[in-house]
Amino acid sequence: MKLFRLSLVCLCFVSALSQLPSRDILALLEFKKGIKHDPTGFVLDSWVDEPVASNGCPSSWYGIMCNGGNVAAVVLDNLGLVADVDLGVFTNLTMLVKLSISNNSITGTLPNKLSNFKSLEYLDVSQNMFFSSLPSEIGKLVSLKNLSLAGNNFSGSIQTQFLDLHLFFLDMSSNCYLGRYHLLCQVGGLVLS
Ligand SMILES: *[C@@H]1O[C@H](CO)[C@@H](O)[C@H](O)[C@H]1NC(C)=O
Ligand SMILES: *[C@@H]1O[C@H](CO)[C@@H](O)[C@H](O)[C@H]1NC(C)=O
Ligand SMILES: *[C@@H]1O[C@H](CO)[C@@H](O)[C@H](O)[C@H]1NC(C)=O
Ligand SMILES: *[C@@H]1O[C@H](CO)[C@@H](O)[C@H](O)[C@H]1NC(C)=O
Repeated sequence: MKLFRLSLVCLCFVSALSQLPSRDILALLEFKKGIKHDPTGFVLDSWVDEPVASNGCPSSWYGIMCNGGNVAAVVLDNLGLVADVDLGVFTNLTMLVKLSISNNSITGTLPNKLSNFKSLEYLDVSQNMFFSSLPSEIGKLVSLKNLSLAGNNFSGSIQTQFLDLHLFFLDMSSNCYLGRYHLLCQVGGLVLS
């Protein structure tokens, strides 16, 4: 009987361990906390803790694409999401290749520490209400190919931040940037040479 109890305790302990959410899942749940309204219900209804993905990446969650046990893409465009969230919540998604959350009503800032996003190739936060100054580390996103910040309220200098980036596509329309000599308010896509 004692042995039976002991093994029962062991079993419970093991199953509790296997249900601990991964770092990637915790990061996504942190983003979810910032969502105030989700008119389609796609995110709030599918981003649920149970059942926890066995390999650590919740491929059944709306807008989430996995690469093995890691989140590779978060795509939540055109959902009418109303949210207040600092995109720093995503810095633990170290294998993230694509983050696309265009055309929602998301208020917040870009994290100043971007160096964690080593794999990020595609970043589209256009048509939201982000308001921070441009992170100085944006030049450290070495893998970045497409960047759209259009239709937000970013501010700051673009004099040197983009010099190290090798972008195929850059759209920063409808933001104002304090350039070296004057405030630049871009109206079209900007192509850097
Ligand atoms: C990121 O991971 C660290 C270390 O595991 C943890 O302390 C922190 O709370 C995580 N942040 C988020 C936003 O999930
Ligand atoms: C933006 O999202 C809304 C739904 O929230 C949709 O009706 C609208 O067509 C989208 N706009 C664009 C340009 O895709
Ligand atoms: C954009 O930022 C400026 C300067 O911080 C502020 O005055 C303005 O109200 C903001 N506009 C919006 C739409 O958030
Ligand atoms: C990046 O932007 C270019 C130019 O608009 C486009 O042709 C390409 O499909 C984009 N890449 C992705 C992954 O969307």
